[in-house]
Amino acid sequence: MEKLVSTPKKKNTLERKEFMKQVGIGFGGILLMNCLQACSDSEIPDPMPGGSGDKVDITLDLNLTANNKLNTPGGYVVTNGVIVARTLADNFIAVSAKCTHQGTILEYRPSQKDFYCPLHESEFSEAGAVEKGPATGALVRYNVTSDETSNTVRVFE
Ligand code: FES
Repeated sequence: MEKLVSTPKKKNTLERKEFMKQVGIGFGGILLMNCLQACSDSEIPDPMPGGSGDKVDITLDLNLTANNKLNTPGGYVVTNGVIVARTLADNFIAVSAKCTHQGTILEYRPSQKDFYCPLHESEFSEAGAVEKGPATGALVRYNVTSDETSNTVRVFE
């Protein structure tokens, strides 16, 4: 007579020791990545140049004193993490206001047609590209439209 032998079902679980080993490796990896990132001299681009996390969409009233400099070619203002400039050719341009090296607020230099960092002297083109280091990351460039009727400038992504 044939014997029916039942085999024990395989458990689909990890041994406790194996589980702890895997968790330890994963946790250690996360800690290592955070440490390396914190200790690194490399640039970490600000994902929120405006600081709010929302998309940039601001309208500047050029009748206001705070925005008065934009009524003259060559003038610029810094607002909401954005530097808005009026070029000598009378076009409005806008880029993220913080230097990608260490976050210093940039200046606009109309004669040089660039954005300048006063801290370590990085230079960026009017389109936001790095022209001179130590910064290596480009600025965020924004769209700009102007409305002469309402005397406003809109900066948006
Ligand atoms: S902070 Fe701008 S070049 Fe260093």
